[in-house]
Formats: sequence, C-alpha cells, structure tokens
Amino acid sequence: MVEQYEVKIHNKNKDNIYFGCARHAFKKSLEIINFKKFDTVLMPEFICRDLLSSVNELGGNVIFYPVDKKLRPLSLPINQNIKAILAVNYFGFSQDLSIFKDYSLKNNVFLIEDNAHGYLSSDVDGTMLGTRANLGFTSFRKILPVYDGAILYSNLNNGFNVNEIKKISLRKEKLPLRFRTKNLIRILSKYLKFPFHRYVEILSRCYRYLLTGYYLPMPLIDAEHKIGYDLLMNYNSFLKIQKIDKEKEIERRRKLYEFFLVKLKTLSIDPLYPELPRYTSPYGFPFYSNQNEVKKVSRLAILNGFDCSPWPDLPTEIIDNCPEYYKKLYFIDFLE
Ligand SMILES: Cc1ncc(COP(=O)(O)O)c(C=O)c1O
Repeated sequence: MVEQYEVKIHNKNKDNIYFGCARHAFKKSLEIINFKKFDTVLMPEFICRDLLSSVNELGGNVIFYPVDKKLRPLSLPINQNIKAILAVNYFGFSQDLSIFKDYSLKNNVFLIEDNAHGYLSSDVDGTMLGTRANLGFTSFRKILPVYDGAILYSNLNNGFNVNEIKKISLRKEKLPLRFRTKNLIRILSKYLKFPFHRYVEILSRCYRYLLTGYYLPMPLIDAEHKIGYDLLMNYNSFLKIQKIDKEKEIERRRKLYEFFLVKLKTLSIDPLYPELPRYTSPYGFPFYSNQNEVKKVSRLAILNGFDCSPWPDLPTEIIDNCPEYYKKLYFIDFLE
C-alpha cells in the first residue's frame, strides 16, 4: 500500500486555499455560496466536460450560455434557480468581466472566475486573473510541470472558515512512477536541448492507438459526474511551486506566443487572439483550423518541443448540437 498522510503548514494568505485540482476548488466555491441540490450554475457551452462534475457532485444543475468565435458570451439566460455564473479566462487571456458583473448584480447571483488556464497571467490593468470576482480558481499543473494543484481565491468576507485559512492541508505521498519517469525525461530533454519527452509521448500515443484505437486517453465515462482526483494538493507540488521564477516563466511564455504568431502566419490557421495583451501569460497558442493544417502545426510544435491538441472535450449535452467552430479549436501547449 502507498504511504500517504496529511501535513498542515502555515498559510500566509488569508483569502486563498489549496486543492488537488481546479474541479475541487470550483466545488468548494459553490459550497461557500451555500449552493444546494437543484440550484443551478450558468456555464459556457465551450468548456471541458470534466468541470460539470463539481456541480453534479453537489446535485446541482447546469444551464449553458453560448459563446462567439472569440469565446465571449453571446447571451446570458435568466432563470430564478441560477445561483452562480462562471466566467472563463480561456488560455490565460483575460475575459472581459463587465457583462458578467452586470449580470451578477442585476440578477443577484455570484460571479465565479474560472482561471484554470491562467496561472501567472493578469489583465491589462495588472490585476491577477482568478482574483477579480466573488470567487475564483486557478490550476497549477497546466502551467508548471507539477503533478497537481489548484488555488481558490475568495473576495467574500465570510468565504473561508478560520481553520481553513490558518493552515494549508497537503497530501504527503510518493508521486506515481509514471509521473516521475515523465519528469526525468522532461529534465533530460531540457538539459540536452532536444525534445525527447515529446517523442516518448508520441510513442506512447501510438501504443495506445494499437491497444484502444485512440491516440489520446479516452475521456472517463463518469467524468461529468465524479471529480475522480484527490482533494488535497500534493506536498511535493506545493514545494515546487514556491521555487518557480515567475517573471522568467511569464517571459518564456510571451516569447513563445510571439514566435508562433510569426511562424504560423503562412499557414491557413486563424489565431484566436491575434494580439498578445500586456501582462498576459498565455497557457498556449490557440487557433482555429482544419485537420490537414493542424498536422503541419503539430509538426512544427513538436520540433520546438511542444504538443498540439484539440480543446475542449465538450459536455455531452453540447457536443451534438453546437456551432462548428466549437470543434475546430486547437492549441499548442507551452508546458515545458
Ligand atoms: C477551463 C477549465 N476549467 C477547469 C478545468 C478543471 O481543471 P482541473 O483538471 O485542474 O480540475 C479545466 C480542465 O482542463 C479547464 O480547461
């Protein structure tokens, strides 16, 4: 049996707490606003299906709002059961919150900022993403090579109880062998300046294809119903995050964005964000394209040590009845 125990360390900040993943942080944000069975959350149609699990575990309902090609809300439905509305900062680019704040005030619902993609990113005024609404959450493992981790911010006076904010509860447990091996190859690639880790990933995808007929991991059947991830963040991930040179990481990401903007100009792709706003730290390079062109982008991405994949795994309720452009978005992931 794997040895696992809980450690508690002092929390220097009274308005945030840590979790194993963003889904747990989202669930906690709903619990804080006293979200009950049959209450409803308003969420964008363009979202990864896993996130529904936070609502479903509480017995709640979701109403979806449509988004345009720039991933801004097209309309925000009104319903008396709606208790919270979720605004998403896609790919680390700040979502304009004014329309959401307006809606939230007029309809007396809580605004929650999903910043799972935007650790280290800020809006044009320099305000950290994830901290701009009543509640907001940010994921670490999408931006840094850590096993897990997410943080929940609250701007509500009565957000967290005293015990929650005084101590950070973390899980002390040896990381899985698969993650440790991947990390070793990643470090080796960085040291030798050759993307071995990407080629290992390709081999592993081919192997998966032979076994299952799918290159990417199959989404879990109950992904929309069960979070299926540890509640507490791993101690190892927590320590690693403290050591990150944030400025350097932001600079690396911004340079990469500019690099791909220029490099991909000759291909027939349509960047989701043709400009890189001040203070934005991009999760990756998102673009609309067709499958043939994506192959060329993927090749270029791999040569530079990065992965390119479609996003998101749409919710079951949305996938068969949505605009075509929801299924044509891809992104180059800047995770090293
Ligand atoms: C926009 C968005 N929000 C939330 C999540 C959930 O993040 P986590 O996997 O850390 O629970 C995801 C997952 O990829 C996501 O893309």
